[in-house]
Amino acid sequence: MPSVRDIVGRDPEADPITVLTAYDTPTARIVDDAGIDVVLVGDSIGDAVLGHDSALPVALDTIATHTAAVARGVDDALVVADLPFLSYGVSEPESVRNAGRMLKEAGAGAVKLESGPHTVDLTRRLVELGVPVQAHLGLTPQHINRVGLQRQGTDEEAAAEILDLAAAHEEAGAFSLILEHIPANLAAIVTEELDIPTIGIGAGPETDGQVLVVNDAVGLSERAPPFATAFGDVRGEMIEAVEAYRDAVTTGTFPGEEETYVEEGLELDN
Ligand code: KIV
Ligand code: NA
Repeated sequence: MPSVRDIVGRDPEADPITVLTAYDTPTARIVDDAGIDVVLVGDSIGDAVLGHDSALPVALDTIATHTAAVARGVDDALVVADLPFLSYGVSEPESVRNAGRMLKEAGAGAVKLESGPHTVDLTRRLVELGVPVQAHLGLTPQHINRVGLQRQGTDEEAAAEILDLAAAHEEAGAFSLILEHIPANLAAIVTEELDIPTIGIGAGPETDGQVLVVNDAVGLSERAPPFATAFGDVRGEMIEAVEAYRDAVTTGTFPGEEETYVEEGLELDN
């Protein structure tokens, strides 16, 4: 696995950073083989995979299990584990232990956490201890009960706060910053002001890289946010395959001769 240095050290103008989520080994292998730079085991697993209607119920053990599955499928990409709701911030020792587990036990190379005024010191501490941190500002979906899912940073005060927090997290040692669902011109300013790479989702084209939830990117999601684009129709393909299987079984064409083995001379008395 590359270190965060390999991501931070490049020239994103020449070579934009590509990030996708993944939650399982086969998907992670596809994403890695395609040359995606960073695989994020997002708490978006809550909605994308586990049938919750937000990320809030996702447990740290769930992220650990799926990070380990992803790490087993990845040779080249950096694997980032997303710290779920209340696995950090309750107390520093618990936050540090939880974040450390993602590297010690699950095979992540870094953690991501949703940032705010309360995560500057924690970011500094984790980085001091050797846990690379990806910060996340703008729409932070763990705050869904407080702010909903609307675009953030839309007035001058809110935009200035995002810019200040971005600088504070860079200063605290974050190696990268995700900017979610903010105006493109604000994302461009933050990108201009920071040295660390910014990764946008719903933040326009001027960040140093882009991230999407893999289910949205491949067209597996039933509902995707307005800023996501499906680059394929995996859901459509799965529906066709499942229906074809059902038809083959119900019409008796599967299993056919090819999939069938007969042991000649096998006779059982009964
Ligand atoms: O959980 C997630 O997948 C994320 C990305 C969308 C940035 O936080
Ligand atoms: Na997340």
